[in-house]
Amino acid sequence: MSSKLWGGRFTQPTDKFVEEFTASIEFDQRLYRYDIQGSKAHAEMLGRQRIIAPEEAQQIIAGLDAILEDIEAGKVEFSVALEDIHMNIEARLIERIGAVGGKLHTGRSRNDQVALDIRLYLRDEIDSILDYLHALEKALISQAQANLDVIMPGFTHLQTAQPVLYSHHMLAYREMIARDISRLQDLRVRFNFLPLGAGALAGTTFAIDREWVAEQLGFAGVTRNSLDSVSDRDFALEFCSFASILMMHLSRLSEELIIWSSADFNFIELSDAFCTGSSIMPQKKNPDVPELVRGKTGRVYGNLMSMLTLMKSLPLAYNKDMQEDKEPLFDTIDTIKGSLKIFADMIAQMQVRADNMRLAAARGFSTATDVADYCVRKGLPFRQAHEVVGKTVRYCVENGKDIPDLTLDEFRSFSDLIDADIYDFVTLEASVNARKATGGTAREAVERELARLSK
Ligand code: ARG
Repeated sequence: MSSKLWGGRFTQPTDKFVEEFTASIEFDQRLYRYDIQGSKAHAEMLGRQRIIAPEEAQQIIAGLDAILEDIEAGKVEFSVALEDIHMNIEARLIERIGAVGGKLHTGRSRNDQVALDIRLYLRDEIDSILDYLHALEKALISQAQANLDVIMPGFTHLQTAQPVLYSHHMLAYREMIARDISRLQDLRVRFNFLPLGAGALAGTTFAIDREWVAEQLGFAGVTRNSLDSVSDRDFALEFCSFASILMMHLSRLSEELIIWSSADFNFIELSDAFCTGSSIMPQKKNPDVPELVRGKTGRVYGNLMSMLTLMKSLPLAYNKDMQEDKEPLFDTIDTIKGSLKIFADMIAQMQVRADNMRLAAARGFSTATDVADYCVRKGLPFRQAHEVVGKTVRYCVENGKDIPDLTLDEFRSFSDLIDADIYDFVTLEASVNARKATGGTAREAVERELARLSK
C-alpha cells in the first residue's frame, strides 16, 4: 500500500480500473509548472515561519527545481497510480530527497493546492490570450486603415440597407474585440487572490503566512473564506463565458467572410494559405479557416455548459466532481488561442475587392433613406417622407431603374419638394459622408476613430 501517498487508511489496493477512472494525471500534467511554482513558495513560507526547518525548505525547493528540469527535459513518466499531478510531483520529491520531501504538504491540502494551480495557470494563459486579442485588434485596425474609402453595402436582415465604409465595418469588430479584452482583464482582477491556506476546507492549524505567499506569487491578496476558496470555480466559469462571447464574435465575422468570399458576393479574397481545395471540384477554394472557427464556437459553448452543469448544486466544499473542471477549461483555452492566432493572420492578409463592394452598394436602393432625409429637411414629416420614397422605390422596381437614374421630373412626380440638388444626396459618397456624428460611417467620423485608436 505504500505507493499511495494516502494509503495509510486502506487495507486493499485500489481496483486497477478505478485507479484509471479516478486519475486526472493524463490531463492535469499540463499544470506541472504551476504546481511546482506554488509548492516552492509554500515550502519557503514553511521555512520562514519555522514550521519546518529553513534548511529543509531549501532541500525541498532544490528538489522541486530538479524535478521541473526533469519534466521539461522529458525525463519524467507520470504514473496513473499516483492519480494526479500533485501527487506525482510529491512522490517524486520524496523519492529524490527522502523523507524530508514529505514535509512539503504540511498545512496544505490538494484541495487548496489545485485551486491555486488552476489560478496560476489561467492567469498565465490570460496574459498570452490578451496578446492574441491585441494582435487581432491590430489586424482589424490595419484592414480599416488600408481600405479607408472602400464603400460596401451595409445590411440589415442580410438585405441591402445603406452604404457604409468597409473600414467602419471592420471597426465594428474591433469594438467587439475591445469589449472581450476588457471582460478578460476584468475577470482576471476578480480571481487574482491566493486560495492556498484554506487546507482541505477549514483552514490550517499551522501558523502559516498566506499574505507572504500571495505576494511571492503575484496575487493581489488572499481569499477570505476557506470553504469558498476550495470550492469556488467562478473564475473558470467567467473565463468560459468570456470565451463563449469571444467565439460568438468570431463566428459572426467568420460567417461574413464565408459569405463575402463566395462567388456570388466576391467582396474579398482570402489568402490561399487559409483556404483549401475540393477533392472533386477543381474550381473550389473553400474558406476552411473561418468555417472551422465558426464550428469550434460550438465546443466552447459546450464547455461553458459543462462547467455550469458540473458546478450546479455541489454542496460545500470540495467534491471530486470538480476534477472535471480541467478538460473543458483546457479545451477552451486551446481553442480560443488557436482561433485568435489564425484569425489575426488571416485578417491581416485579406484582400478587398473594392469594385465589387461598390457595385453591390449601389444596388438595392441603398440611398433611399437619404431621399427621405432630404424631404424631411425640406419640411416634410418623416413618416410622409417615408411614404414618398416607398412609392419612388416601387416605381424604380417596376421600371427597372435605380434611384440616382431618375429624372428630376420623375422625382418630382412623388414630391414637389424635390429639386435638382437631390442628385448631390444620392451618391454613395454623399450618403456615407452625411453620417458624420460620432459612431457614424462618414469618412471623417471613421478617420477620427482611427486617430483615436492610434493613440
Ligand atoms: N486531482 C484533483 C482535482 O483536480 C485534485 C484535488 C483532489 N482532492 C481530493 N480531495 N481528492 O480536483
